[in-house]
Amino acid sequence: MAKKEEKEILEELVVEEKKIDPAALVKKIKTPQLLRGFHDVLAEDQVYWEAIRQKVNSLAFAYSFDRMELPILEPTELFVRSVGKQTDIVEKEMFQFQDQSGANVVLRPEATASTARAYIEHGMVDRPQPVKLFYEGPMFRYDRPQAGRYRQFNQFGFETFGSDEAIIDAQLILIADRFFRELGIPVTMQVNSIGTTETRNEYKIELVAYYRTHRNEICEDCKRRLTRNPLRVLDCKVEGCRAVTANAPQIIDWLDESSKEHFMRVLEYLEEVDVHYVLAPHLVRGLDYYSRTVFEIVPEGTDGSQSALGGGGRYDGLVELLGGRPTPACGFAIGIERTVAALKERQILPEVRGRRDIFLAQLGDVARRKGLALFEAFRQEGVPVAEAFGKSALKAQLELADKYQVKYTLILGQKEVLDGTIIIRDMESGVQETVDMNKVVGIIKKKLTE
Ligand code: HAM
Repeated sequence: MAKKEEKEILEELVVEEKKIDPAALVKKIKTPQLLRGFHDVLAEDQVYWEAIRQKVNSLAFAYSFDRMELPILEPTELFVRSVGKQTDIVEKEMFQFQDQSGANVVLRPEATASTARAYIEHGMVDRPQPVKLFYEGPMFRYDRPQAGRYRQFNQFGFETFGSDEAIIDAQLILIADRFFRELGIPVTMQVNSIGTTETRNEYKIELVAYYRTHRNEICEDCKRRLTRNPLRVLDCKVEGCRAVTANAPQIIDWLDESSKEHFMRVLEYLEEVDVHYVLAPHLVRGLDYYSRTVFEIVPEGTDGSQSALGGGGRYDGLVELLGGRPTPACGFAIGIERTVAALKERQILPEVRGRRDIFLAQLGDVARRKGLALFEAFRQEGVPVAEAFGKSALKAQLELADKYQVKYTLILGQKEVLDGTIIIRDMESGVQETVDMNKVVGIIKKKLTE
């Protein structure tokens, strides 16, 4: 007898003898769970995601940015060189591994480096400059998960290559500002300039000297950073370090004349277009590729130390660093999960184009059959309609109509089918009217444009 069969018979006997419930013998099957720091975006949240995507697309169109699709897997070297060896992202947060061929690859932690790589790889330097690109998609950072911080999160980003004009920086800050403003999230733009590599080196010497006098007050990580990458101490989130940083020398005092002038022009442009900005003298951002303008977008009324909604800046040296012709560039990226959270916090349910304003409810078999055809008539006329053909009870259907927050519910019962009519219920006022079934599409279209 096969081992398996024997086992089954034995189990049956045991059940018989001890009167055990057979279900109790079935080994509990464990459902594999989400990885820590990963999350699903459920259907009920799509309204936020859709509103964000629509806003991104309309801004990209208005400001002439072209969409790029970039790979999620990139060579590790790309980020080591661009984001910087001694940054948190490269030191601790990259999902990296060797693929089957032994190549060192990484799930991209950000996409500015990828965009710069693509700019070089596809010879975009020969196109009319500036080249303006945008992207959207998942990024991966093996960070400690907490509210608003995931290991897989989504960003969209706007990048401009081929111009070092201050107006480019200002317009990018303006786009980021308008994105939030138009979604109804009040934000402040924290701005700073970190000058050139040369001026930064002089500043670093001063910074190290300052922190050395406070050596006992800063964290172990920062003590290490001090010798390897002192600018990173400035964005350490540990309380003690933040207190010391509050009185640290400010990079603005070390700027060369041309960077200072550039920064002044950026600020003048921002004033011209009414962008709410504040100077953030210790803002250096956590990635090494920046020069001159840097900025971070924080919810109004916070210092943003834990909750930046987005950030960006100029990275004039990056393309050259990656082997391309010297090409000034500037851009920003915004975190989509954090934007969704900000919308929810403010109880903003965004208006999404293509939302369904009509719910079609049916009662009884004949009405259901007529309903199927009526639904098609609406769809052909381009009027999106929600339905629940799988449900029969009117109450359950009306509950759904409520959930979808439609403006009108159409109710088709047996009597209406016989009379050739249909009921239109205004969901806000509760007022109902009965209209000719053959005219209902036109009537609804008219109501929706009123
Ligand atoms: P970043 O500041 O590292 O910049 O990321 C931009 C935004 O992505 C953050 O402000 C935040 O909203 C979101 N984000 C970052 N990490 C997480 C996380 N673990 N969980 C959830 N959201 C997160 C960049 O990535 C640069 N590439 C921006 C840039 C574009 N600079 C120039 N061009």
